[in-house]
Amino acid sequence: MAEAKPNINLGLEGVYFTESSVCKIDGIAGRLWYRGYPIEELADQSTFEEVSYLLLYGRLPKRKELDDFSSQLAEERALPEKTARIIADMSGKTDPMHVMATAASSLSAYDREADDTTRDANLRKSVRLISKLTSIVSSIGRYSAGMEAMQPDGNMGHIENFLYTLTGRRPSADAVSNTQAMFILQAEHSSNASTFSALVTASTLSDIYSAVTTGINTLKGPLHGEADEAALRMLRAIGTPDNTERYIEEALAGKQRIMGFGHRIYKTYDPRARIIKRRLEALQGSASEEIGRLTQIALRAEKLMIDRLGQSHGIWPNIDFFAGPVYLSAGIPVELFTPIFAASRVSGWCAHILEYWQNNRLIRPLDYYTGTLDLKYVPIDAR
Ligand SMILES: CC(C)(COP(=O)(O)OP(=O)(O)OC[C@H]1O[C@@H](n2cnc3c(N)ncnc32)[C@H](O)[C@@H]1OP(=O)(O)O)[C@@H](O)C(=O)NCCC(=O)NCCS
Repeated sequence: MAEAKPNINLGLEGVYFTESSVCKIDGIAGRLWYRGYPIEELADQSTFEEVSYLLLYGRLPKRKELDDFSSQLAEERALPEKTARIIADMSGKTDPMHVMATAASSLSAYDREADDTTRDANLRKSVRLISKLTSIVSSIGRYSAGMEAMQPDGNMGHIENFLYTLTGRRPSADAVSNTQAMFILQAEHSSNASTFSALVTASTLSDIYSAVTTGINTLKGPLHGEADEAALRMLRAIGTPDNTERYIEEALAGKQRIMGFGHRIYKTYDPRARIIKRRLEALQGSASEEIGRLTQIALRAEKLMIDRLGQSHGIWPNIDFFAGPVYLSAGIPVELFTPIFAASRVSGWCAHILEYWQNNRLIRPLDYYTGTLDLKYVPIDAR
């Protein structure tokens, strides 16, 4: 008897595969919480170090705990010499995300605890990964621009040191605050594609370096992490504010997707996009001519897209839409947007991996076979 066709959830849409207390998204109300804390409060009042602690340990740290955690992160910033060499060799020759994945994977070779699978060792490896992935990004930025990597400054916080080692200059307070907000906003987002793929790797009882490397490779795609780069390239292609409506209308008529809009879960305004939009608007007076122009274009594109596809199709701005001009204002080049996303999301990946390992089950879904069966093998010369 023929097998009845099962209900297939393409893209696993609407499928629950585990329980988690890391993050909650309400895609209808447009709300987001990390470990119960509203994203708005964390983005405005916390730091990336504190949010990383919150995600990993499930609660906000006390003063001493945060100081210790921040010191551990600062102590782990230096990259192994051979990882630095990999970055120097690959940068500029391939996509920065390939460089990042290779460099991240290589870290396992220089971690004396690589084979220790205890929870404590994995927490320490998470700290190393969170610290070193940001160093990898600044090194990629330096080598891609034909410069040597900078030595980290142990007296600076995670974000200030990142901008310093990337640009070679002590960053402004605005640059630190806005980049910090982006790191916090991108640190976690439940079972998105990269977190899920990291968990698939982790569920085989592979190791945390392998799982994080999987996450980096999954984040690379334009439907996921690369959308902020694509959105900025579009704003630049529009060129002038007065060209905005014509460009967007033509793109929509040609059935193109407008990057930075739409989301699998949010069917309303992404709360992270609101936070970044507010920061971008606050920058306008002090920003360069280019950022002022890109902001005007973005605001006109946002209005048109909401009128055309907001209420009617549930397609609203997501976090990626306003991120580009904010990053540019901090001196971050477009090629590094997705690597920065990975350097932020690593906190969420590690939190989920550690949580999943507490009740591990191999992830192994089914596909519905539509091919034929029992074909007769024909030797190659008789075909
Ligand atoms: C994120 C995304 C993949 C989620 O998509 P999804 O839940 O799989 O939704 P679908 O791809 O099924 O799209 C549903 C409809 O909305 C349209 N749509 C979705 N996003 C769109 C966008 N950004 N611009 C224009 N139309 C869009 C689709 O073309 C489709 O229309 P159709 O039904 O006429 O074919 C999708 O919105 C997208 O590609 N956005 C652009 C990339 C992006 O910004 N990604 C970052 C996410 S944080």
